[in-house]
Amino acid sequence: MTSAVVTGSSGLIGSEMVAMFDRLGWESHGVDNNMRRDFFGEDGDTTANLRRLLGSTKRFTHHDIDVRDRVGLGRLIAEARPDLILDCAAQPSHDLAARRPFDDFEVNAVGTLNLLEAARASCPESPFAFLSTNKVYGDAPNELELVELETRFDYADPDRREGIDESCRIDATTHSLFGASKAAADLLVQEYGRYYGMPTVCFRGGCLTGSTHASAELHGFLAYLARCIREGRTYRIYGHKGKQVRDNIHARDVCTAVLAFAESPRAGAVYNIGGGRSNAVSILEAIARFEDLLGRKLDREYVDEPRRGDHICYITDLGRFRGDYPGWELTVTLDDIFAEFVGQSGARASART
Ligand SMILES: NC(=O)c1ccc[n+]([C@@H]2O[C@H](COP(=O)([O-])OP(=O)(O)OC[C@H]3O[C@@H](n4cnc5c(N)ncnc54)[C@H](O)[C@@H]3O)[C@@H](O)[C@H]2O)c1
Repeated sequence: MTSAVVTGSSGLIGSEMVAMFDRLGWESHGVDNNMRRDFFGEDGDTTANLRRLLGSTKRFTHHDIDVRDRVGLGRLIAEARPDLILDCAAQPSHDLAARRPFDDFEVNAVGTLNLLEAARASCPESPFAFLSTNKVYGDAPNELELVELETRFDYADPDRREGIDESCRIDATTHSLFGASKAAADLLVQEYGRYYGMPTVCFRGGCLTGSTHASAELHGFLAYLARCIREGRTYRIYGHKGKQVRDNIHARDVCTAVLAFAESPRAGAVYNIGGGRSNAVSILEAIARFEDLLGRKLDREYVDEPRRGDHICYITDLGRFRGDYPGWELTVTLDDIFAEFVGQSGARASART
């Protein structure tokens, strides 16, 4: 049997990973203190995911540990000595980071340092995967020349078709405090690979999605949009005429990327991970798709000021990861993702019961 420790195990990626480990017969230890509820209120509550995992898995143990608790985390890693560590616990919002800078940095940067040190002390040979973000590139992707099409922006340079790769610079650009705390963690994860030779990887995510996301206005683009249409809430579009483009990757495909790395790890690796051009959609296009599928109009409001830290057009170039792990592929299409959201109206509700 193989074992893993997953932080943020009640969240979108963490819970998907735990469920996948369980199907594979792995033992897993999840660390989550439901801080997403503290960040985003009722909308962010991840209790439903935890209950679902406890009810559906055979080899999962939950630990209500705060990743800022260095001693508690160290003890768990020392006892479990897992074969794989996946770091998914985070404060994920730009806007919230500006309001709560210490919480943001202590969870995102110090939490990851706590986990790295625990791993170095107890299981330095075990692959360590960190869920980083494309926000480590700050506003640099916004410097690219864009063309404005009817419903979206796109890159003007045809050579950019595949999107942003890992050579994009991460400094001398505005990140938001969230982007800065994630960049700090990203560099630490790389350094534990380079300096200590540990098998670490940063996955710099585009929009990671799936119907189990405890979506809130400040985080979880497609899931929150689906929730607004279903529940008749007003959706606010912030700037760029709603033509800003995000690429979406389903949580399942993120988890198979983590497994591919775990099977054949490297030290200090960095990969962009996202849905690529085929899974890219603008806010306007996503609204139109949901309205079409649900036969209902979205109540929307336009705020003529973009969110700070927002990318105008972000498409993930998956070339490096595909080159290193040719067996991995995207299996969930944009159509599949929309279908999952539309078919899931009762999924979260029933998971709550
Ligand atoms: N979802 C996205 O679109 C996206 C995009 C890029 C990167 N990422 C990164 O991927 C990772 C996973 O994202 P997600 O969407 O699954 O996030 P999520 O918010 O759904 O899950 C994170 C989990 O971490 C838990 N958590 C927060 N603070 C904690 C703490 N102090 N101690 C213990 N647990 C804590 C939360 O309660 C939550 O359940 C994060 O690091 C995030 O920054 C996500």
